[in-house]
Amino acid sequence: MKIFIDSGSLKDIESLVPLGIIDGVTTNPSLLAKEHDDPRAIIKKICRMVQGPVSAEVVATESAGMISEGRELAKIDEHVVVKVPFTREGIKAIKALSSEGVRINTTLIFSAPQALFAAKAGASYVSPFVGRLDDIATDGMDLIRQITDIFGHFDFPTEVLVASVRSPMHIVQAARMGADICTCPVAVIEQCFKHPLTDIGLEKFLKDWEKAQAAKV
Ligand code: E4P
Repeated sequence: MKIFIDSGSLKDIESLVPLGIIDGVTTNPSLLAKEHDDPRAIIKKICRMVQGPVSAEVVATESAGMISEGRELAKIDEHVVVKVPFTREGIKAIKALSSEGVRINTTLIFSAPQALFAAKAGASYVSPFVGRLDDIATDGMDLIRQITDIFGHFDFPTEVLVASVRSPMHIVQAARMGADICTCPVAVIEQCFKHPLTDIGLEKFLKDWEKAQAAKV
């Protein structure tokens, strides 16, 4: 399963890329609004840093506007994936842009038929938002199960990108369900590096080693 960073912060992304396990980045208008630089310049810098798919979202709501904005975003860098929300207008834009070879990430997916329609329209990725479903007492990961089941029956090249991730358990469940990608906030990736038994175990290994070295002199 590929791991993407869900962030618009160059600092965040810079801190994780050297790990060598980051495959891409997702941004959205809310994340980019937190940053001071020009959004296009940020997207370009993220692309150069990550050298993998970087989602940049359109803000137009009519298909014609989404199409022209999508074309402009795609020109920023070869790694840009245009993020389009799942709406009636969005589906029209996805069909048009994907027919031109622009890679699309369909965002704000909250049901299985939305994912199916986006795949039919030619989206390269669908982004079901699991955390926001959990927030309204609906099992977000059950939606991932439904989508991976459905896509398993057909030959869509569309990848399932688990979004709105809130904890390492979402990563575990996504991987067990065979999702293609999990996009994670930096805090969730950092949490995966924390395990008391790893810390205690390492401390003991090092102490035992030091003791043995000291006994030899
Ligand atoms: C994904 O592409 C979205 O940017 C993101 O995962 C939304 O997460 P949130 O529900 O935590 O805002």
